[in-house]
Amino acid sequence: MNQKLGLAFGSAPGSNSDKPVESTGLALSPGLGGITMDKSVEFSYEELAQATDNFSMANKIGQGGFGSVYYAELRGEKAAIKKMDMQASKEFFAELKVLTHVHHLNLVRLIGYCVEGSLFLVYEYIENGNLSQHLHGSGRDPLSWSARLQIALDSARGLDYIHEHTVPVYIHRDIKPANILIDKNFRGKVADFGLTKLTVGGSSLPTRIVGTFAYMPPEYVIYGDVSPKLDVYAFGVVLYELISAKDAIVKINGSSGETQGLVALFENVLNEPDPREELCKLIDPRLEDNYPLDSVLKMAQLARACTYENPQLRPSIRSIVVALMNLSSSTDDRDVGSFYENQALVNLMSGR
Ligand SMILES: Nc1ncnc2c1ncn2[C@@H]1O[C@H](COP(=O)(O)OP(=O)(O)O)[C@@H](O)[C@H]1O
Ligand SMILES: [Mg+2]
Repeated sequence: MNQKLGLAFGSAPGSNSDKPVESTGLALSPGLGGITMDKSVEFSYEELAQATDNFSMANKIGQGGFGSVYYAELRGEKAAIKKMDMQASKEFFAELKVLTHVHHLNLVRLIGYCVEGSLFLVYEYIENGNLSQHLHGSGRDPLSWSARLQIALDSARGLDYIHEHTVPVYIHRDIKPANILIDKNFRGKVADFGLTKLTVGGSSLPTRIVGTFAYMPPEYVIYGDVSPKLDVYAFGVVLYELISAKDAIVKINGSSGETQGLVALFENVLNEPDPREELCKLIDPRLEDNYPLDSVLKMAQLARACTYENPQLRPSIRSIVVALMNLSSSTDDRDVGSFYENQALVNLMSGR
């Protein structure tokens, strides 16, 4: 099967570094120079069915546009298996191709695949589900501000890797909270490469519009233009969601059914001479008072730059990584600690 697909699976030492890791189409010997090669990447249907209790509802952990995802115990390891219809072969092969080419700490890791009856992709299991569940779901503790900052930085690093460090360069095209997974240490990993497109020399041919509307920039919706700035725009919307825990499209004025995008909602606030007071009203109430407002404001300003109408004015993902690194080092534990102390003091003084 590997040969038929022209693919080789493997991970190289230091695959978390920024060096591109590419499969060569050749199988490497196991253990060669520290390179570990998983030879058992093509699974049989029988093995996958056994690992998921016959794809039972109890094992189902996710549902996206292209498949159902099941928890599995496979060869003694936890795994997640995406089962896709044969009709989704385009998305299946796109994802298989990208994830066998690129390996990075902030991208979900593919373990293997199976093509028997349906199409299956087997991934490492990511314990804490997706970001949308944390922001919009119930039954989970709210993410702290520093966790949100870290998840933003992790996802930006994952994107930076596919935008700038791989040959060819990839554009994800479906960045949104449901496609960002949260691991057991609350670190973020970009997932779902079914709509990923490769570009040559930074441009790509006109294309069928795919993805999720609320996250699409105008040049894509209107002209079908695809560039890395498409992911940057979607990432900006994700930043607004991290701040507000609101959906990317929100209902305004209750009964009228009128809707507004988060981009417009935040823009109105950020255009004010001093946006702080109005900004506070948009912050996720589940954060209570536990956030440094300066840090939130900076993240909102970054999101705004990411969602500029003109793609050329949007920052590259590389400079977004740098901005988020600066933001998280100025919002480190000590700062948050002193912030909480100040807050406690304020509460004490105000008799709360
Ligand atoms: N490796 C994984 N570990 C844990 N949960 C996962 C994993 N991969 C996907 N999921 C869950 O399944 C959902 C759908 O997966 P995704 O790859 O986005 O499929 P689709 O292409 O159908 O959108 C995700 O939003 C997430 O909740
Ligand atoms: Mg998805």
